[in-house]
Amino acid sequence: MVNRVDAPLKVTGRAKYGTDRDFPGMLHGYVVVSTVANAEIEAMEVTAAKSAPGVVAVYTPFDSLKLNTPNGMLGETWVPLQTREVTYYGQAIGFVVAETYEQARDAAMLVEVSYLTRPALTSLADGLATAQEPPPGRGGEGSELSILAPGVESIEDALASSPVVVEATYTTATQNHAAMEPHSAVALWDDDGLTVYSGNQGSDIQASQLAHALDLDPEIVHAVNPFVGGAFGGKGHTSTPAFLAAAAAKALGRPVKAALSREQVFTATAGRAATVQKVALGADRDGKLIAVRHDSWCSTAADGSFVEPTSHGTSREWYATQNLAISQKMVPLNIPPTTFMRAPGEAPGSFALESAVDELAVALGMDPIELRMRNNSFAPPGKDLQWSSKHLDECFQIGASRFGWAERTPNGRTDGDWLVGLGTATAMFPALRFPASVEIVLNADDTATVSTSGADPGTGLLTVLSLVGAESLDIAPERITPRLGDSRYPAGGMSGGSTATASAGTAIMVAANNVLDDLLKLASSAGAPFEGLETSYADGQVQADGRSMTFGELLRATGRTTLAATGSSAPGEELTKHSFSSFGAQFVEVRVHKWTREARVSRMLGVFDAGRIINAQSARSQIIGGMIWGVSAALHEGLEIERNGRLANGDFAGYLLPVNADIGEADVHFIEYPDTFHNAVGARGVGEIGIVGMAAAVANAVYNATGIRVRDIPISIEDLL
Ligand code: MOS
Repeated sequence: MVNRVDAPLKVTGRAKYGTDRDFPGMLHGYVVVSTVANAEIEAMEVTAAKSAPGVVAVYTPFDSLKLNTPNGMLGETWVPLQTREVTYYGQAIGFVVAETYEQARDAAMLVEVSYLTRPALTSLADGLATAQEPPPGRGGEGSELSILAPGVESIEDALASSPVVVEATYTTATQNHAAMEPHSAVALWDDDGLTVYSGNQGSDIQASQLAHALDLDPEIVHAVNPFVGGAFGGKGHTSTPAFLAAAAAKALGRPVKAALSREQVFTATAGRAATVQKVALGADRDGKLIAVRHDSWCSTAADGSFVEPTSHGTSREWYATQNLAISQKMVPLNIPPTTFMRAPGEAPGSFALESAVDELAVALGMDPIELRMRNNSFAPPGKDLQWSSKHLDECFQIGASRFGWAERTPNGRTDGDWLVGLGTATAMFPALRFPASVEIVLNADDTATVSTSGADPGTGLLTVLSLVGAESLDIAPERITPRLGDSRYPAGGMSGGSTATASAGTAIMVAANNVLDDLLKLASSAGAPFEGLETSYADGQVQADGRSMTFGELLRATGRTTLAATGSSAPGEELTKHSFSSFGAQFVEVRVHKWTREARVSRMLGVFDAGRIINAQSARSQIIGGMIWGVSAALHEGLEIERNGRLANGDFAGYLLPVNADIGEADVHFIEYPDTFHNAVGARGVGEIGIVGMAAAVANAVYNATGIRVRDIPISIEDLL
């Protein structure tokens, strides 16, 4: 376990985030947002704003900065100000640029907008009747899937012939990522081209999106994001302020800084979909699943640009069943767009599925862990490829023992004025990786530099570069300088999908092999200290003939200051051999006050099988963050959307997030089975699995404590009266 290499910079305030950069002559931009949810903008009166003190430019859809719509690995990205159509309340519709931030903000208030308004559809419940099929390529692998055992006609028949059936509808709320660092940017033009400082999940992806949006040669676009104040999927796409600052800096020939206000972060970005999910489980009396049906509806933006894959994300993968039917529909609404948010699909999907499994356990009179173990799968239903490495049973065994599960009774227990219940749930998240390249430079002072473009949005990736780099070069981590968050480094993909350690880590190992091969060739080359000899490398040293030299000594002896090599990796043949996923068992103790009915999570434990853990400290932090977010989803968090599309609680006063006093004891345990079928590093990633299953575990514990089954989260006091 090591401390994060960037921790001292962060805790002393020396880490420079996007808007911590200032440049001579820099202007400030302020985004103007819509105050209706569905309309065509008829006119925008900007005369007063333009003549306000300090104002340099006012951009609107009538007088816009031209931006193309990038379409890359994350799909189409929204670009602001290119249309007069307003499809949600709080949409960016203008950009005021002035000498100071205050001048830009004041002038923004002077912009008058006239709208031709249309009726707005803002509630998922109201839109269910007009739900649509997701467009191809969204919503997982096709919107409907049905797997039936031989001789079974339909999923309804399979359910009808099941001795025990539970069926219920669950709902989850829409959320905002609410990262500490608001979406923001500083953009600068100089002789080298465009440089944009902006927190994002992948600097090379951001650079290529900006190049596309502005019709620029990618070679002259430089995205810099060494520090990112939280992202969680909400900074995968390039943000509105980054697009606008970059375009305005180009148009005006001066650096431009722009940041969303906290309230604007809730609307002028994208968040998590709300969902409605119907789950039906049929089982025999021993608890063996016969049929699983999971139908989902999710909210999406008016353009249907993102579908939260709840059915595909959970029922497709989790339990062995002969009969499975899933469907996924979307409901376009006049609300801010939806996008990836920590465990997209699995986080809300697991609330429905894992609540239903708990309901089945109650119906069967069976322990919920026992029920889960009886339906443990060796492969996803309908797929031939077995899991590469699955130890979910061990997660539950260890978790049950650490958590004191044996003391649980079917009706909870009482502790003074508190009703105490225990709940559990399975967690799963697929193991993926993306193409990545890394450069390693060996230096003559016996240090090495490990660089990849990527980003560390608080996940600990920078420290992973140090640790895997040190291991691959067989030197101490202190001798590695890790570098991330600059699009000029080799393309490192993104911190998303719980992939970065597997992707970048594997590329580091390849780069290390390459640079050490070159080092040995150099060592035995003509005139070099080991000329003509068979050399080997270990412990930071080149060895041959009973002699050894550090790589730094060798570089100096051959008159070099550095030796560099790049390595790349990408998913490949392994995908034809196994299915890959991480697994976990979540445990929660909830206390519900007998009289006030407030619910509190007093203890939680997650036990995870996520392959090799590279850094126990940051892995634990990732998981705890996810588990707390799961508690938040269950008990606190959700956007309230008024009929007119305005967010009633789109700020930190009204949007409930757990604080320290809301979170009791939090325990995390990893069982480590390195998964070298998946990648050479053996790590499957821990970014997202921590949140999965948590909301269900909380609701299941609430049921255990009170006998009240709440199927709509967040759970409120009113639900428990
Ligand atoms: Mo995350 S939702 O994979 O950025």
